Amino acid sequence: MNMKLVFSLLFAASLSAVTGLAPAQAPPAPSGATAAIHDTMAQRMQACVMCHGKEGRATQAGYFPRIAGKPEGYLFNQLKNFREGRRRNQAMNHLTQHMSDDFLRDIARYFSALDLPYPPASAHGLSARQQRTAEQLVFKGAPERQLPACASCHGSRMAGRSPAMPGLLTLPADYLIAQLGAWRTGLRAASVPDCMADVAKRLTHEEVSVVARWLSAQSLPTGTKPEVASAQPLPIRCGSGNE
Ligand code: HEC
Ligand code: HEC
Repeated sequence: MNMKLVFSLLFAASLSAVTGLAPAQAPPAPSGATAAIHDTMAQRMQACVMCHGKEGRATQAGYFPRIAGKPEGYLFNQLKNFREGRRRNQAMNHLTQHMSDDFLRDIARYFSALDLPYPPASAHGLSARQQRTAEQLVFKGAPERQLPACASCHGSRMAGRSPAMPGLLTLPADYLIAQLGAWRTGLRAASVPDCMADVAKRLTHEEVSVVARWLSAQSLPTGTKPEVASAQPLPIRCGSGNE
């Protein structure tokens, strides 16, 4: 991908965020009503789609995470995390640098409302023993190591939980491994108490790889929504995930 093009689009997107104007490359609109239609969120978000896939729907391959259909609070928190340096990625840090909270919330609402099909289930290539390890971690955890089941926070179907707990299925395995690694080394952080840092640090290298490959290979029916927040307390307190 041509990085110069990406950055000029990103610049146009951040400029329009600050000024409320349509990106510079938008075709001139003939009348007021058409102008409003031209300046839709979909058009402003063209720069995102280049990396995150059609309408924010990335596949299991590669590194870019899907953003469509994730809980609004989760997306908003991540955009803020990039803006404030709790997560590091050159493009994302640059892009969010001058965006206001209000605009970040609009972006989060837009992508969260998209209801697009998930990629189909794929072969995980795990041995029977590795598959059992992954399913045990996801649905039961390892209580003897104070490691709660992933599903106790990420939702019983691992499709996320409102308002701010993300679903994990179908994300690229390389992306999942990198995120867990970033928490272990302190390169990614969430609001304190950062429960996900505790979880990531309790996993072994082998478990990170096995669970990531298992999560990535699953699919979800179109239209699956994050679970509604329940009164059930989380197994460890989380600074993000509830707000
Ligand atoms: C040049 C490629 C690129 C562009 C353009 C881009 N992103 Fe990203 N984005 C990434 C990468 C790579 C990551 C994962 C970074 C990491 O490792 O933490 C990411 C992560 C994210 C995340 C966190 C996802 C999650 O599951 O935690 C959100 C939300 C996001 N981007 C939104 C956007 C939006 C909105 C736009 C457009 C305004 C955009 N991105 C444009 C590359 C890009
Ligand atoms: C105590 C609750 C809790 C448990 C248990 C938990 N998580 Fe999380 N997880 C979170 C929260 C909260 C976030 C969002 C953090 C943020 O806002 O950055 C998260 C985010 C993630 C992300 C980032 C997703 C993305 O799109 O970037 C990954 C990967 C992840 N968790 C993997 C796991 C795995 C694997 C397990 C089980 C071994 C697990 N989590 C168990 C609370 C939990």
